[in-house]
Amino acid sequence: MIRVEELTKNFGSRRAIDNLSFEARQGEILGFLGPNGAGKTTTMRILTGYMPPSSGTATIAGYDVVADSLNVRKRVGYLPETVPLYTDMTVFDYLKFMSDLRHLPNAEDAVAETLEQVGLIDRAEGYIGNLSKGMRQRVGLAQALLHKPEVLILDEPTIGLDPAQIIEVRNVIREVGQERTVLLSTHILSEAQQLCDRILIINKGKIVVEDTPENLQSRLTGAERVQLRVRGETADLVQKISQMKGIQTVQGISEGLLEFQFAPGNDLRPEVARLVIQSNSDLLEMRSINLSLEEIFLQLTRDEAELAGEGE
Ligand SMILES: Nc1ncnc2c1ncn2[C@@H]1O[C@H](COP(=O)(O)OP(=O)(O)OP(=O)(O)O)[C@@H](O)[C@H]1O
Ligand SMILES: [Mg+2]
Repeated sequence: MIRVEELTKNFGSRRAIDNLSFEARQGEILGFLGPNGAGKTTTMRILTGYMPPSSGTATIAGYDVVADSLNVRKRVGYLPETVPLYTDMTVFDYLKFMSDLRHLPNAEDAVAETLEQVGLIDRAEGYIGNLSKGMRQRVGLAQALLHKPEVLILDEPTIGLDPAQIIEVRNVIREVGQERTVLLSTHILSEAQQLCDRILIINKGKIVVEDTPENLQSRLTGAERVQLRVRGETADLVQKISQMKGIQTVQGISEGLLEFQFAPGNDLRPEVARLVIQSNSDLLEMRSINLSLEEIFLQLTRDEAELAGEGE
């Protein structure tokens, strides 16, 4: 369980996070999204006890991250943006060393178990310096899991990995996230969509939106978008569709392809289909287009920026 209440962090006169409040429950993977400089890493550093907030509170498994940081560190596993790995140590020795730092009883068992979890058993005796980026990322994940923490905080866990490794690391996260609370930051919206139960988007230190991936997609579009493929010219059709009642926009995209929008709840597809046929055009295809999460994200963060700009 992670609970954040009115958390604010200032660096000098710069406000990195601004009055953030959110929660993540056990068994939940919460995606933390936002553009560069949004405040994701700052929030994570506060949650893991690496630095104090300027104001507000945060608890991990019920322990205050400032007042009870020792208890917090026992219960949280942290994969930082860049993991400080010792390249001249073997994977096993490094994890053993990290276990000893944490004063874990049965350190060797803990290491063996964790190696298994992240799929590194056959690399245990290899030097970290010789590992690929994806394998190093797994070592980072392993050190975060050694002490079986209730809460996992993963700062861009798949950054810089190739597609195959991304899938493998995601599988590990899904697996280890089942009974924990996971806060995961990413720039990849499809990743959040695949992995997360809920998504929190922040921009300039403020929460812009918080919802399930499914709801995010549908609730933010504000319009139904439909693409229409016909044989031949579209200019005439565009003209006719634009005159229909309830059509918000219509435009030709390329030869034979056009797109129109209407308000949700006022489905104009049948009328448009009739019109196409009455115009003696051949209707080849009609399909709804959902706004991609990327588009939603840009829309949200752009609107925010514009709002902020207006206030200045
Ligand atoms: N130690 C620091 N001292 C001064 N400013 C800082 C410090 N750490 C972060 N900041 C500032 O706080 C803001 C938030 O940074 P943060 O690293 O949390 O963003 P982020 O969302 O993790 O971005 P990215 O996606 O690039 O990793 C930025 O404006 C950054 O310059
Ligand atoms: Mg960051």
